[in-house]
Amino acid sequence: MPFEYKKVLVLGATSGIGRALAAKFIENGVSVIAVGRRKANLDDFANEYGNTGKASVDTAVFDITHLQEIPAFAKEMFTAHPDIDSVMLNSGIQRHLNWAEPDKVNLDHIEQEMLTNYTAYMHLTKAFLPYLQRQAPKPTSMVYTTSGLALVPILYCPNYCATKAALHHMILAMRQQLKDVDGNNVKVIEIYPPAVQTELHDAKHQPEMGDRGKDLGMPLEAFVEEAWEGLSAEENEQVPVEAVKTRMGFYSWERERQGTFLKMAEMMKKQAH
Ligand SMILES: NC(=O)c1ccc[n+]([C@@H]2O[C@H](COP(=O)([O-])OP(=O)(O)OC[C@H]3O[C@@H](n4cnc5c(N)ncnc54)[C@H](OP(=O)(O)O)[C@@H]3O)[C@@H](O)[C@H]2O)c1
Repeated sequence: MPFEYKKVLVLGATSGIGRALAAKFIENGVSVIAVGRRKANLDDFANEYGNTGKASVDTAVFDITHLQEIPAFAKEMFTAHPDIDSVMLNSGIQRHLNWAEPDKVNLDHIEQEMLTNYTAYMHLTKAFLPYLQRQAPKPTSMVYTTSGLALVPILYCPNYCATKAALHHMILAMRQQLKDVDGNNVKVIEIYPPAVQTELHDAKHQPEMGDRGKDLGMPLEAFVEEAWEGLSAEENEQVPVEAVKTRMGFYSWERERQGTFLKMAEMMKKQAH
């Protein structure tokens, strides 16, 4: 089944996964509003993809950590584009953290990571979800980029892993809450990338990684091909990519864990009646 949405607001589209997926959307006739802090990168995206004749491109500069501005931003986006039928929350940052050297632990990094990767996502979800719900019965979606590290943490960035695990738990429960609403029209989609070659762990953002950071993980192009295939599949609520599928447990114990979650949800619903 083709990706069924026609206009996606992509937050975090100035580089890496967000930019590459936004380009893939355009190639496949899906219009994009690309968002991020770096205006030059947004202009570059619009120049490259704005005149393909396949779909429209708009851009907006926004910093998702400016929480108080999020409701007005959502209103502005839907006033300009009432036909947005998918909102993709993809912005993210990753920082090193090593508790073996507590003196070097940077609490500002921890707070900024939690703010960007989790708290802002809650504010964005609260602001954008009603605009999608109001379009019922038209199918719409919220798309979240988490990570394989939401399932299995690694050692060099434990707080980052915790932000993604928090988001993953929240998404599981949110998806079910919405499914329990009669006439729900908002699908909750989660993309789980493995390590991908982007700016996330390059030397600028994580000096500890040195030059090897930018080459960490699978090539971006290969990631986008597999992610797009997953997004276009019949079952596209959860899109694990490459190593996440098997090595990181998505098709084994994560399935079991989600089964337990669903059983507990059913049990608690029965108890409530
Ligand atoms: N690359 C990987 O190995 C990997 C693996 C698993 C999951 N992920 C996740 O994939 C998503 C995209 O990351 P990426 O790998 O593509 O890294 P990236 O190239 O560094 O892209 C990060 C994006 O997030 C945006 N962003 C960061 N802070 C923001 C803020 N305060 N306000 C608005 N936008 C902000 C950046 O835009 P501006 O700087 O222009 O604002 C940029 O567009 C993230 O959620 C990341 O955690 C990545």
